[in-house]
This record gives sequence, C-alpha cells and structure tokens, in this order.
Amino acid sequence: MNADALPRPRSLWVDTAPAPDRGGRPLPDEAEVVVLGAGIAGLTTAYLLARAGRTVAVLEAREVGAGVSGHTTAKLTTQHAVKYEPLERHRGAEAAARYAASQAAALEWIADTATELGIDCGFARRDSFVYTTEPGRTDLLRREAEAAQRAGLPASYVDDVDLDVPAAGAVRFAKQAQFHPRRWLLGLADAIERHGGQVLEGIRALGVEEQPAPTVHTNRGALRARDIVVATHYPILDRGLYFARLDPVRDLVVAGPVPGDRTPAAMYLDERTHRSVRAFAANAESLAIVGGAHYRTGARVDVAARYAELADWATARIGLRRITHRWSAHDMSTPDSVPFVGRYHPFARHLWVATGFGQWGMTGGTAAGLLLRDLLLDKENPATGLYDPNRFDLRSAPAVVKDNATVANYFAGDHLRALGKSDVDDLAPGTARVARTGATVVAAYRSPEGELHTVGAHCTHLGCLVAFNNAERTWDCPCHGSRFEVDGTVIQGPATRPLRKLES
Ligand SMILES: Cc1cc2nc3c(=O)[nH]c(=O)nc-3n(C[C@H](O)[C@H](O)[C@H](O)COP(=O)(O)OP(=O)(O)OC[C@H]3O[C@@H](n4cnc5c(N)ncnc54)[C@H](O)[C@@H]3O)c2cc1C
Ligand code: FES
Repeated sequence: MNADALPRPRSLWVDTAPAPDRGGRPLPDEAEVVVLGAGIAGLTTAYLLARAGRTVAVLEAREVGAGVSGHTTAKLTTQHAVKYEPLERHRGAEAAARYAASQAAALEWIADTATELGIDCGFARRDSFVYTTEPGRTDLLRREAEAAQRAGLPASYVDDVDLDVPAAGAVRFAKQAQFHPRRWLLGLADAIERHGGQVLEGIRALGVEEQPAPTVHTNRGALRARDIVVATHYPILDRGLYFARLDPVRDLVVAGPVPGDRTPAAMYLDERTHRSVRAFAANAESLAIVGGAHYRTGARVDVAARYAELADWATARIGLRRITHRWSAHDMSTPDSVPFVGRYHPFARHLWVATGFGQWGMTGGTAAGLLLRDLLLDKENPATGLYDPNRFDLRSAPAVVKDNATVANYFAGDHLRALGKSDVDDLAPGTARVARTGATVVAAYRSPEGELHTVGAHCTHLGCLVAFNNAERTWDCPCHGSRFEVDGTVIQGPATRPLRKLES
C-alpha cells in the first residue's frame, strides 16, 4: 500500500470521543495537590485524591487524553509481553508477585470504578495472548507462563492462537479486558470535577520550585501546592536524571473495519515484532486495531514506509477492508522494565513522579495512581519499594550505559560534522531537511503549498538535533523523544519550550 493512500494521522479514540473544552479557565492561586498532565496516570491520581477529600488541580498542556493515553491500543491486561520470566530472574519471585498483584488490582479497579461511576468506556473482558512465530522461542513462552502462574496470574501455555499468523506457541492470560481510553479519561475528569477538583487545559508547566514552598510555574502564571505530581509522561524536570534512565520507543497503529467473521476474538501480541491486534465496535461496525513497527523515537527511519508496511500486514493477515484511522505514539521503558512511581528524587518531600510504563501504562498508569494516592496520604502500600524511582539496581547499569551511548550519538557534534554546508531554498514541496546555513543549524520544512518553515534544529530540552518524521510531519528528538510541530510548537515533552523560530 502506498503511504499516500492512508488517511491523515488521527487517533480513533480522539475521533470517537468528543470532549468539552476545558481551556481558558482561570488558574487558581493554590491547591493542596497539583497534578501535571491529564493522561491516565495524572487523572487516576487526581481522581483518587479528590475522592479522598484533597483539593486537586490538574494542569494539562493540551487537552484531556491528548498524550499517549489517547493514542494507545488500550488493552487492559497484566500480560505485559514477556515480563514475569525476566522480572523473576532479575528482581526475584516476590517482586514479580508484587508487580502482578498491583497491575491486577489496577485492572479490577477500572472494572469496578467504570461501573460505580457509570463511565461508558466499552469495558469488555477478553483473553490476551502473546505468541511467537519462532519454534526456537516456545521454551521462553513456556517459562513465561510458569513464572506468571507463580506470580498469581491466570496464565497458561497454548500451542496456537485464533489469528491468521504462523504461531508456534503462545501464553494465554484469561479474563483480561479492553476499553475506550479517552471515554475513560473524560469520565475520570468529570468525576474529579464532581469532587470539587479542577481540570485545566491549555496550561503548560514550565518548571517547579520545591523551596521555600512547592510552586508550579506555567505559561499562565504560578500556583502553590502542598504536593506536586509530575505525570507529564516524560518527566519535564531534569532533576532525578530521568533523561538518562528512560528509553522512548515509538509504535504505529492502523485501524479499520473487518468482516464480522474476522473480528478478533481476543487480544494478541507477537512477542518479537510487537505487532498487536484487538477489536473495537463502532456504530455496529466491527473494527480491528493493529499496532507495531516500533522504532526509537527520532531515529532517521522512513516512518511513512513503515505505516504502509503495517497497513499491508493488517489487510492481509487481519482482514482490514480499508484503513480509516492511523496514529502513533511512544512510551518509555526503564532499565529494569518496572515503572518509576514515587518521590521525584531521593530528597523530594512533596514532589512525585509516575513514568516509564514501557507500553503498558493502561494498568501501569492506574497502578501508579493507586500507589501515589497511598504515598500522598501516608498509607502503606506493598508496591512502594518495587516502583521506587530512586531504587539503585546495579543490574540495570548496562542498559543505562547502552541507552546513553545511543543518546550521545545524537548530540550535536557528530551530526553537525556529517551535515556539511547546505541550503534549504531548493527544498521540494512536502519535504524537509536539517541543514547548516552559516553558523545556524536549521530544521526546514516546505509545505505542499510551497511555504517554507524554518526553526532551530537543536531540541530545547538538552540540545540534540531533531529529525523529520515524514508521516506525521513533525520534528522528533532522538534523545528523549520531545516532538515539535513544523513551526516549532511543542507537541510532546520533556521539552517545554518551542524550537527557535528563524526567518524563512
Ligand atoms: C502505540 C502504543 C500502544 C499502547 N498500547 C497499550 C496497551 O494496549 N495497553 C497498555 O496498558 N498500555 C499501552 N500503551 C502504553 C500506554 O498508552 C502509556 O503507558 C500511557 O498512556 C502513559 O500514560 P501517561 O499518563 O503517563 O502519559 P500521557 O497519556 O502522555 O499523559 C501525559 C499528559 O501530560 C501532558 N503534558 C506534557 N507535558 C506537560 C507540561 N509541561 N505541562 C502540562 N501538561 C503536560 C501531555 O499533554 C499529556 O496529556 C501503549 C503505548 C503506545 C505508544
Ligand atoms: S528530548 Fe532531550 S534533547 Fe531532545
């Protein structure tokens, strides 16, 4: 399939859940708890604390669910690819059991809360499968099924899956679930407001002071808080060195109608390619949602060609009649694949963080909310140590060193030398280039209508050179995943400031 034949990027979830405008509301002077980010981690935390009687303000740079939580595939499962075998091996059986219990509790909390609050989010129980197409890897899946069982989960090894793929074996988790993530988030936002909290859109946090009093600085002024929760996906503050400990991996998703008899009966994931499949019903039509084609955000790859390849696979294997939606997003992994949830840095008293869900933040972000509620209310929670962002685990060191070597490659030096001198006047419509013009390194894009947009090519986070994403028409940073519009506007952090505008 030619990438030009695909629809413009737009998430199915955003498209099918219209939302009230929460922009333009005045910023309060203070709140007991200020949560930065209205994704699943931030809204769950805010809802739980509002329900516990705290005054809460959620500050969202764009709109509810505009981030990864509105661009996910929204499987609700404790089956996190191949997780429990390595987790048990690296951190022990007790850690694997704690992880399993906290994720399972998050799933059941969503089920109960959707009923209690009457949120129409299409919550539906489905089995979940992780399969391999490589006979040499079935042993790993058998060990994964056994480790997951030991961790207390409803796992079993099976020989095949009900999908048109050459599976050599699979792990089945019974009675997991799927839902519509944006409807869920909008329901949580309404519930926060019913408990007296505020959800404010269009407010970008620019920085946080911890002393003398916790204060958030935003594009619309400052507000004080007793506690501040940073749930901005990639943490926006450099203290805590998260930028050296998180690895952004981007996935593409396509969706479209399938014949009724080809509706995926369960949720599926290829353990090696990470191709992901689930169903969704819209207006009595059966859709399939297919994800995959992952790559490191900002890597110099042909994203449009990857979309086309994924669409071809979805058409041939899953039976999509046409592609009605496509979108993409990235998530970050931690060195030991366990999220960071807790105190922002070892000396933080009132600054908290939730990040690093490694593609499993639907249960992970919810588990983070449940844990942060307990931490802020000074209650015991058995998962505290497991998710502690300040845990020191020597076994994670090689992964950190490897990731940072990758990052170092993208810092200006090497790439600047490779660029040489160049001009941007000859750019063809619809194309982009990073070029050195005199002393300036320019990220230049010419629209199909011929308008030239030029911005500084150094990411405003820590200065890496951005790369063009030819499918979304954005500038993406390979170091920590910040993303920018072609006019430099921030789409996604950790950057909080736009790329420098240059004269065209
Ligand atoms: C393609 C894909 C498929 C996935 N599929 C699944 C799945 O099937 N199941 C699963 O469990 N997980 C899945 N995940 C992972 C899951 O979607 C994420 O882990 C989760 O959504 C992260 O939630 P979050 O709240 O941390 O981040 P987000 O949802 O990104 O929320 C962060 C919010 O903070 C806002 N923000 C950022 N900077 C600022 C600032 N400076 N000031 C104010 N606000 C700011 C953003 O606009 C955003 O709304 C998938 C991920 C991807 C990429
Ligand atoms: S995101 Fe960190 S340098 Fe760009």
